[in-house]
Amino acid sequence: MKVTICRKAHFNAAHKLYNKNLSMERNREIFGKCSNENYHGHNYELIVKLCGEINKDTGMVYDLGDLKNIIKTEIEDLLDHKNLNIDIPYFNDIIPTTENLSVFIWNKLRNAIELDCEISVILYETPRNFVEYTG
Ligand code: NI
Repeated sequence: MKVTICRKAHFNAAHKLYNKNLSMERNREIFGKCSNENYHGHNYELIVKLCGEINKDTGMVYDLGDLKNIIKTEIEDLLDHKNLNIDIPYFNDIIPTTENLSVFIWNKLRNAIELDCEISVILYETPRNFVEYTG
């Protein structure tokens, strides 16, 4: 019997969406105001889901306290109040869209969570715009 457990988290970060191989005009066409040279910020909301079997000894899929701590150390401490383009080397050559950021977060969590389970990441860039990545 598989059950999905979920944990919400939050961080603020700045970025700009800009492909350095394209002209400023083309970037403006593709990314609009998100290509603004001096960056802009978002209040990101993150939902992490783990789908797995209920452990017979604990009655839990995974300890939500452990999940909270992993999200804090792996994601929030790394990304909160950062400039994604400048502070996070991964985004030196990868455009920090919500899509790419959700993949980055998923990979960090997958490496940190030693459980045979399906991991899903839902990342809200705005209250209405969000992305899901399931690996
Ligand atoms: Ni943006």
